[in-house]
Amino acid sequence: MSTVIKNGTIVAADRSYEADILIEGETIAAIGVDLKGDTVVDAEGAYVMPGGIDPHTHLEMPFMGTTAAETWESGTAAALSGGTTLVVDFVIPGEAGMLAALDDWEAKASRQASSDYSFHMCVTGWSKNHFDEMEKVVGKGINTFKHFMAYKGALMVNDDEMFASFQRCASLGALPLVHAENGDIVAALQQKYLSEGLTGPEGHAYSRPPEVEGEATNRAIMIADAAGTPVYIVHTSTEQAHEAIRRARQKGMRVYGEPLIQHLTLDESEYFNQDWDYAARRVMSPPFRNKAHQDSLWAGLSAGSLQVVATDHCAFTTDQKRTGLNDFTRIPNGTGGLEDRMPVLWTRGVETGRLTPNEFVAVTSTNIAQILNIYPQKGAILPGSDADLVVWDPKLGKTIAAATQKSIIDYNVFEGVEVRGLPRYTLSRGELVWQHGKNDAPRPGRGKHVARKPFAAASKALSVWKEITAPRAVTRSAQHMPIGV
Ligand code: URP
Ligand code: ZN
Ligand code: ZN
Ligand code: ZN
Repeated sequence: MSTVIKNGTIVAADRSYEADILIEGETIAAIGVDLKGDTVVDAEGAYVMPGGIDPHTHLEMPFMGTTAAETWESGTAAALSGGTTLVVDFVIPGEAGMLAALDDWEAKASRQASSDYSFHMCVTGWSKNHFDEMEKVVGKGINTFKHFMAYKGALMVNDDEMFASFQRCASLGALPLVHAENGDIVAALQQKYLSEGLTGPEGHAYSRPPEVEGEATNRAIMIADAAGTPVYIVHTSTEQAHEAIRRARQKGMRVYGEPLIQHLTLDESEYFNQDWDYAARRVMSPPFRNKAHQDSLWAGLSAGSLQVVATDHCAFTTDQKRTGLNDFTRIPNGTGGLEDRMPVLWTRGVETGRLTPNEFVAVTSTNIAQILNIYPQKGAILPGSDADLVVWDPKLGKTIAAATQKSIIDYNVFEGVEVRGLPRYTLSRGELVWQHGKNDAPRPGRGKHVARKPFAAASKALSVWKEITAPRAVTRSAQHMPIGV
């Protein structure tokens, strides 16, 4: 069976052009004019783009005494309806270690996922066992390890642990990821505000000021430099963090930054809403920031100092949020966005002229495919690439509403936002998995795990350069040495 996508404009990260796409089986077989296939997908008046990749999700994540309500089934169906064909989720090791946790995640994902999926592994402590398990994790197709500098007493790691893990990443050709907030300062500020009677969701924002993120981002970058590894900063939300990333990149370091669609479009005033539920539903870390930070993030995306737009989709119900009714530190941290990331970014980015369509493709798909070492299998429209494609109709629109969303939680942080630009069709490995106007649910379990190889190139380049520039003793012959001392 072959499919041809006709009459569309192909939008890649590097150019736009008119051509048909022939799909045979799960991959792109040819790109050209007047191609013929068994079935035709009409892209008249639409853009054909690589399927979106969301590199930051927490589906069914056990966290803060509960489990994120969004399941692999609902989350990946939501993703496909919004044009995202691959999600990369964070595996959190429990007592039994990394490999046992990975089995858990794989079991949940393989049964339920309708989009493709891949994993990052979290490093939440340090021991010989962590050191040993990391190599096995890489052998299972994971080339990224996430470190939390916040969540003291839970997931947080200290500088010495991060340094050891980053060095291990460097030797394995893996990329460290970092949640950069100074967890000690956050914990102290939380206690200060609670003790002053400031117990509502606004306390969450006050206890995580921008400097706390900027400092931790600088520190993570310095530790990565010392360990000789590139580093990827997740959910970059402030000018201070962006500035640290910019500065490092200017020095020639391979440092990547990932703003979230929430931080680009929602601001801190949300936490001051009179309605407790409304404010608590928006509690996530880092918190939403003011407009100056948002402008900095948008600028970074077009300037190239920030590379990826993600969601950090970690969706809790209102009931779950109410655990923190009298204490904001107990409100489960996380918000949703999987199905809204691409439409909201298109509306607020491309429709306003902040991003070109090509930059949109770069930050929603191509850049992260390259960073994660899965390009051009994913993130590209090229012969041989997986046929993960979105036929993007810039004329389709809707008003985002919890009542009509695919996500199973009972609210949406983008409620009421009018978007223009939606998928007319989403294809995953050649299969039509979403059609605008039909509400067919894609088949759970059809999603495949995407394995990722270690980064030979970046770690080799860094280790060669380190070796060339390593401190060396000067060999002096006797005639250049002081005599008789
Ligand atoms: O608030 C958030 N971001 N929850 C998910 C866990 C994390 O920090 O990424
Ligand atoms: Zn985080
Ligand atoms: Zn996260
Ligand atoms: Zn001499």
